[in-house]
Amino acid sequence: MGNKKGSGAAGLFLLTIAVTPQLPAQGPPPATPPQGGAETPATGGPGAQGGRGGGGGGRRAGGFVPGQQRPPGDPAQIARGKALYGIHCTGCHGADLRGGDMGGPNLLRSQVALSDRSGELILPIVQGSRQNAGMPAIDMSPADGAAVATYVRSIMETIGRQGTPPSVGLPPPSILVGNAGEGQAYFAAKCGACHSATGDMQGIASRYPDAKALQNAWVSGGGGRGRGGRGAAAGAPSTRTVMVTVTLPSGAVEGQLVRIDDFLVTVGLADGTLRTFRRDGNVPKVEVRDPMKAHRDMLAAYSDKDMHDVTAYLVTLK
Ligand code: HEC
Ligand code: HEC
Repeated sequence: MGNKKGSGAAGLFLLTIAVTPQLPAQGPPPATPPQGGAETPATGGPGAQGGRGGGGGGRRAGGFVPGQQRPPGDPAQIARGKALYGIHCTGCHGADLRGGDMGGPNLLRSQVALSDRSGELILPIVQGSRQNAGMPAIDMSPADGAAVATYVRSIMETIGRQGTPPSVGLPPPSILVGNAGEGQAYFAAKCGACHSATGDMQGIASRYPDAKALQNAWVSGGGGRGRGGRGAAAGAPSTRTVMVTVTLPSGAVEGQLVRIDDFLVTVGLADGTLRTFRRDGNVPKVEVRDPMKAHRDMLAAYSDKDMHDVTAYLVTLK
């Protein structure tokens, strides 16, 4: 892939100066914020051996590491981005991001990928802005694009920390290598509480005739179409809308979760109006119900084998 040295270190320097913290523009926050931030991104291991110094010699934690001033990625979003990357990008950009068989450039040395903060630079490329240069448009929702971008950044941060190239260790994206029987057992155990083969999942393989799209759909919970939550207060709640109840001395206020952080919570009421309440610790009491939480939680738990098995099984539900 040529071009091993040069632009890298200088580029990092310039880029990190301009970085300011910003919340990722993704879906609503999880009901329980990830604790402590001690979780590692879903990479394939520490990958500490060897390497060529990552172009930065003396760089260390606390130095000018790309992404360091960004909030750490949500582990569930990173895991989802990893899965999506494996499906859509590995063939061209490589399992380790350093370029693949089908001619994509090394993303670890990409200025675009380095500067991206929440998908704003990567997403347009994914959506087709570089088609003339050989990168096809990839059909992906903005939320999924943001997840992939978060994953790519999480890998770049591991390089920054370790000063070595990462070992991501994704196997090639063979979709239909799973065992349908084991996938069925997994489905019964982990998905059966909410889905059934004879109910809502009937014909799922006909709705998603392409195995990759099918895997994408079940891993993400079918993202793309009108996911509720932040900014969706005006629309009618759907089966995937995040709802919230705020209990005040004067009574409970219930509606769609528009926004929440440690200090404020904004509720979209049924009549389309928004109400924002100040939060002080546990006062008032705020209960968030996110129908897609199970999907996000599960993301961190799937092995590649689980994913292949479940997809192999779902493909049989024609
Ligand atoms: C069919 C091959 C192919 C696939 C699939 C593909 N890419 Fe690319 N990608 C390319 C090529 C070729 C370029 C170089 C385009 C150029 O030179 O402007 C590129 C460029 C990029 C760049 C810009 C790099 C830079 O610094 O200029 C990013 C970021 C990127 N791809 C991300 C992705 C992501 C994320 C995915 C998966 C969602 C993906 N690509 C899937 C072929 C591919
Ligand atoms: C706690 C409940 C819950 C669990 C457990 C769960 N899901 Fe879901 N899933 C949902 C909800 C809610 C949706 C969104 C449904 C909708 O949009 O109407 C969804 C959506 C989906 C979709 C998209 C359907 C479509 O038509 O696009 C697929 C596929 C899916 N789930 C597969 C799975 C699989 C496979 C598992 C187990 C590995 C699983 N789900 C576990 C709640 C769950």
